[in-house]
Amino acid sequence: MSNKMWGGRFEDGPDAIMEEINVSIDVDRHLYAQDIAASKAHAAMLAAQGIITASDAKNIAKGLDTILSEIVADKFTFKRALEDIHMNVESRLSELIGPAAGRLHTARSRNDQVATDFRLFVRDTIDAIDAALAGLQQALAERALEHADTVMPGFTHLQTAQPVTFGHHLLAYVEMTARDRGRFSDARKRLNESPLGAAALAGTSFPIDRHATAKALGFDRPMANSLDAVSDRDFVLETLAASSIASVHLSRIAEEIVIWTSPLVGLVRLSDKFTSGSSIMPQKRNPDAAELVRAKTGRVIGSLNALLIVMKGLPLTYQKDMQEDKEGAMEGFAAISLAIRAIAGMVRDLVPDEARMKLAAGEGYATATDLADWLVRTLKMPFRDAHHVTGRIVGIASKQGVALHDLPLKDMQAVEPKITAAVLDVLSVEASVKSRVSYGGTAPKNVRAQAKAWLKRLEKEQKSGRSR
Ligand code: ARG
Repeated sequence: MSNKMWGGRFEDGPDAIMEEINVSIDVDRHLYAQDIAASKAHAAMLAAQGIITASDAKNIAKGLDTILSEIVADKFTFKRALEDIHMNVESRLSELIGPAAGRLHTARSRNDQVATDFRLFVRDTIDAIDAALAGLQQALAERALEHADTVMPGFTHLQTAQPVTFGHHLLAYVEMTARDRGRFSDARKRLNESPLGAAALAGTSFPIDRHATAKALGFDRPMANSLDAVSDRDFVLETLAASSIASVHLSRIAEEIVIWTSPLVGLVRLSDKFTSGSSIMPQKRNPDAAELVRAKTGRVIGSLNALLIVMKGLPLTYQKDMQEDKEGAMEGFAAISLAIRAIAGMVRDLVPDEARMKLAAGEGYATATDLADWLVRTLKMPFRDAHHVTGRIVGIASKQGVALHDLPLKDMQAVEPKITAAVLDVLSVEASVKSRVSYGGTAPKNVRAQAKAWLKRLEKEQKSGRSR
C-alpha cells in the first residue's frame, strides 16, 4: 500500500529496508507537543485569513487537543508506516474529525513544520538547561559563602602554587556557568524566529499571516527568507556548541572532584549518595557520578560534531539528511541536562576536609610568593631580586625539611640580613589568602562579597521568573 499522505503517484509500498532507514517517529515523537501547538496556531491563522472555515478550524483544534491528551496519557499508537510525528498526528486527526483534517496542511509543508517544531523544542530545551544551570550556580554560591575562609592549595600544573580559599575556587565555576548561560541565551535570541509558512521552500500563494503564527508560538518574528527557513539547522548547532562548552566546564569540575576525593589527595569527601563501592575491594568509595559527568562530555561534543558533518556541503534547501539532526541533538541535550544536575548534587553533597586542605595549602612552600612580596614591600627590593632571595631561603628550608614559617629567622637573615621577625606575619596560609584583596582575588572578604552578590542576583532572577 502506498502512503496515504503523499502516495498519490505511488503504486507500491516501501521496501522494508526503505521503511527502516526512512522512519523517524522513534525520535521525532518527542516533538509531539510542539507539533500540535504549531498546527493549532496554523489552523487558527488559516481560519482568520478565510483560507479554511471557522468550523473546520474549530474541529481541527478540538481533534488536536484530543490527540495531545491521548499522547500524554500514553494511549496514542505511533505507527512506523506513517514515518514521522507530523503524519502520525495528521492521520489520527483524520480518524477523529474526518475530511476537515486534510485542510490543515494547506499552505505548509513538513519542511517548515519540522523546522518550526524543532525550533520550539530547542527553545524549551534551552529554558530547561538555563534553569538547571541557575540551580548549579545557586549550589556553588551557597557552598562558596560557607567556605569563604576555608584555605586550600591552589594549583598550577597540578603543583601546589599558592593558598586560595575553597569558596574562591567554587566561585570560579559560578563565573564560568554565567558565561555558559549567556551563550544559551544568545542562541535563544537568534533561534526565536518562525519558519512556519515558508511551506516547502518557496512560500505559498495563499494569503497567510506569518506574523500571526509567529506571535502565537512566542517567536519574535517570522523568518525573512523561505529558503533559509527550511534549510538551516544552525540553531541546533549553536545550542549544541553552547552545550559543548558548558560540558567542558562540567567535566573540569568533575575531574577536580575525582582528584580531590582520591585517597592520595583527600581534600574532599563525597557521601554514599554520590559514590559507589567496589564488588571486590571493600574499602573503595568510587566517584562514579563525577566520572560519568566527565564522560558525558563525549556525547555532547560528539553530537555537535555529528550534526556539523551532516550539514556541511548540503545544498539548499531541505535535504533528508537533516532528519538526522534530532536524535544526536536530543541525546546531547539529555546528557548535559543530567550532567548539570549531577554536578549540582555533588556540589551540595561534598564535604571538604578543612584540616587536610589547610595542611596541603602550606605544602611545597606555597607562601614563597608572600615572602617575596614582603621583601618588595618592606625592603623595597625589586621583585626579581626578591624572587632570587626567596628561592635561596626556600632551598635552605627544604634542606632542613621545614616549612617557611618554621625556619629559624637567623637562617633567613643569613641570606638577607634586613629580614625581621615581622616577616612571620605573612608566611601562614591564612595570612596569605587574607592579603589577596585585589579585585577578583581570593581574600575571604572578597569571596564573601562575591558569593553574596551572586546569591542576591540569583534570587532576583528567580523572583522575576526569567533569566533573560
Ligand atoms: N521527518 C522529517 C525530518 O525530520 C520531516 C520533514 C520531511 N520532509 C520531507 N520533505 N520529506 O526532517
